[in-house]
Amino acid sequence: MELFLNAQLILALGEHHAANALIVALNGSCLLTLALCGGLLIELARAEFGQKTNLLDRALKATEGGLEGLIFFHANNRHLEFHPVKKWWQGTHKYRELKAFWQVTNPKSPNPAPPSIRDIQNPLVVLGIETSCDETGVALVRLEPRASSGSPNQAPATGTILSQALHSQIALHAAYGGVVPELASRDHIVRLAPLANQALAEASLSWSDIDLIAYTEGPGLAGALLVGASLAQGLSYACSKPIIGVHHLEGHLLSPLLEPDAEKLVFPFLALLVSGGHTQLMRVDGLGRYTMLGETIDDAAGEAFDKSAQLLGLGYPGGPEIGKWAMKGDPARFDLPRPLAKRPTLDFSFAGLKTAVLTHVQKLKALHGLDDQARADMAASVQAAIVDVLMSKTERAISETGIQQLVVAGGVGANLALRARLKQLEQMGRCQVIFPAPSLCTDNGVMIAWAGGLRALRDQRGHDAGAFTVRPRWPLSQA
Ligand code: KG4
Ligand code: ZN
Repeated sequence: MELFLNAQLILALGEHHAANALIVALNGSCLLTLALCGGLLIELARAEFGQKTNLLDRALKATEGGLEGLIFFHANNRHLEFHPVKKWWQGTHKYRELKAFWQVTNPKSPNPAPPSIRDIQNPLVVLGIETSCDETGVALVRLEPRASSGSPNQAPATGTILSQALHSQIALHAAYGGVVPELASRDHIVRLAPLANQALAEASLSWSDIDLIAYTEGPGLAGALLVGASLAQGLSYACSKPIIGVHHLEGHLLSPLLEPDAEKLVFPFLALLVSGGHTQLMRVDGLGRYTMLGETIDDAAGEAFDKSAQLLGLGYPGGPEIGKWAMKGDPARFDLPRPLAKRPTLDFSFAGLKTAVLTHVQKLKALHGLDDQARADMAASVQAAIVDVLMSKTERAISETGIQQLVVAGGVGANLALRARLKQLEQMGRCQVIFPAPSLCTDNGVMIAWAGGLRALRDQRGHDAGAFTVRPRWPLSQA
């Protein structure tokens, strides 16, 4: 029921073109309100505005005249005329300048069940929704299934990006030097529906053109994941479209398969997954067939970039900042550790690096301050240390497995120094390396649409909308 209302609210926003609208659901026990855009008022709880007109009155005052209109929902037409809110609205003259839309819905006869993937004509158009951390991403991707006579060692489809809309929360979190989960969730709520409309408009498609809705089910920040899951489930319900939850890391892992040169990529291949929360070397034998070869035992590579940047007083996120400063620096000036680099393991460790950076920075500050040249030299030294560790483990994985194809995914995959060193491996004939475009390395809706579409094609099914869970902690091996 809440799901149903949620979906109707989202669709109504588009329909009424009311960016600054207060939406009020009037149904018995589950009353929820939601004002999107303009940052007016967001209330996802059971606020019971519908029964308590004084609450609605106060909510309207709180918007300080910034509203264009109100959209009222009611699930039972018979009683609308007698509803306390309708009577109150008809009797009050305070808000006469506002347009009011009364919309009757009937959740007792929900939309028809979504078609199964099997019934969908090729190609498959997938809407992808990503909200696991600090990027709100929505994208539309079209998958063309390969002929069944194609190689079983290839991805089952090729993909075309039809549109992508992305909002980064970097500026929102910059002052805190890291992601603040509560702020992240609230911002996703404000951004998501407009981005979804933007993605549709850019692709010149309507909701009915979508065959499948894919969203990030985990891992990630629980509140942030819930925002994407809620929109996805609501849309699935309202538009009768199948839905699929996607593992965020699988999204990263499969995104290089969207590249034009991925034609040559066949299973099995190696994947170096380097993001803000993960550093993993995986063996990929097929869709959903992932074996962990090694992972970080403490900090992730992205975290090492971020924390080092913070110690150097550089901006957030640290990876791109360190990359920029490193270009002007001497990577040999500071001797930083390469933890576990020489050990016969494929695991990584980056915590010692952060401690070493801290010690150097404290010494420099005590001696003659941390000037820009020292910052640049330290940035170059940090980058060299991280890249050395990633390279040594990757080379070891190639030797140990004998697999000569490597994909690189995750935010750190955008690092130019890492890309250059990996390209050298290719030039030396050690392996073929495939990177996603830098814009697809960091979080985005495209990778979620793509991974969801591939999974749905393989399993020949999506799911019906329904009670949903998010999985803030979710090992990829269980996806
Ligand atoms: O994959 P991602 O966007 O989000 C997670 O799932 O974590 O990765 C974000 C991480 C951050 O730690 C960021 O500092 C790092 O990727 N990053 C980079 C670069 N761009 C992003 N690290 C090094 N060089 C870059 N150019
Ligand atoms: Zn990510």
